[in-house]
Amino acid sequence: MPRTSRHREDEPLIFARRTTSPSRAHAARLIGLGSYLPPRTVSNADLASRLDTTDEWIRTRIGIAERRIADPATATSDLAAEAGLRAMKSAEVGHVDAVILATATPDHHVPGTAPTVAHRLGLRQVPAFDLGAGCSGFVYATTVAAGLIHGGTAGTVLVIGAEKMSAVIDTTDRSTAPIFGDGAGAVVLTAGHANEPGTLGPSVWGSDGEHANAIRIPDGGSRRPSNPAGGVDDRYVRMNGNEVFRHAVRRITQVTQESVAAAGWSLQDIDRLIVHQANARISAAVANTLAIPVERVPSNITHVGNTSAASIPLLLSHSALDGRLQAGQRVVVTSFGAGFTWAATTLLWPMGLHAR
Ligand code: UT7
Repeated sequence: MPRTSRHREDEPLIFARRTTSPSRAHAARLIGLGSYLPPRTVSNADLASRLDTTDEWIRTRIGIAERRIADPATATSDLAAEAGLRAMKSAEVGHVDAVILATATPDHHVPGTAPTVAHRLGLRQVPAFDLGAGCSGFVYATTVAAGLIHGGTAGTVLVIGAEKMSAVIDTTDRSTAPIFGDGAGAVVLTAGHANEPGTLGPSVWGSDGEHANAIRIPDGGSRRPSNPAGGVDDRYVRMNGNEVFRHAVRRITQVTQESVAAAGWSLQDIDRLIVHQANARISAAVANTLAIPVERVPSNITHVGNTSAASIPLLLSHSALDGRLQAGQRVVVTSFGAGFTWAATTLLWPMGLHAR
């Protein structure tokens, strides 16, 4: 029998896990936090007026009441630049050494969107690049930023998660249209010392491309530049919701446990679990499995929906602004998305951080 490297579902995921540990000297410390939402709100009633769905179904099955949708003239870079500016103001810095933009909805295939954002922020000539890891993109990007800081390549990094999901959502598809929304959030990370409040703990991250088709945009990439059947290209997100739901609960639970263990904490130590806002029932299932009281699991999905890579920094920002995140709390940040990808990290919430 030829040997195969394919992973079986029942095997331990020893090859899918990578852990990075910041050194004492150069760990990444959170010093700035900002977010931006486009002003237009689309309610469930608005959706139900043109789609075969109901307010009640969306509220009970997903936990969403409304989402923000950018106007047609607004691009992801516009959302990202506003959030990035707010994070830099929050950090009280006028310069950073690198910009990483996590997004699944870049302004264009080419060029990357991060240089445009850096330019808009007056950060000319700094290294700037996009990172695509679906809804896990922001935690992936903070992991990369922490590595740059750890290695001494960059002292301070602006990490942004921004999405104009409405650009890739089929408004006639009831399995995606109620879920996604637009928005952006950002953090500034700078060199600090491990165990200092605000310093990111070890990151635990992984992927499983076996499920690449579970969330995808079928056409427009190099695999299928256009529809092979010769019909209209499908440039919208298509999702197998049930499959994604199952894996999301399993992976978020697992990566949270691993990240807590890597930090030397126990699950009872968690004061705040910041979970990617995919579906309120996913967050509830994770909290239930890990026996974390629901009041320790902040949420903003009701008002912003699933904003993909922007979800985590938006939730961090909103939770800091409304007091659900407070200095000294042990915080776990955990995500799951297309790919599949997943990632989590930990931090002690710092004093004096003013979200913008
Ligand atoms: O950000 C990371 C990626 N995304 C996610 O993590 C999302 C993960 N998946 C989910 O959140 C859920 O699977 C969905 C919200 C997408 C779907 O919820 P569900 O509870 O898994 O619904 P379902 O697909 O199993 O459908 C249940 C029923 C079906 O009707 P029948 O066959 O039971 O009569 C669907 O046709 O609900 C129906 N349905 C709807 N009804 C009203 C599906 N979508 C809708 C809708 N409005 N929008």
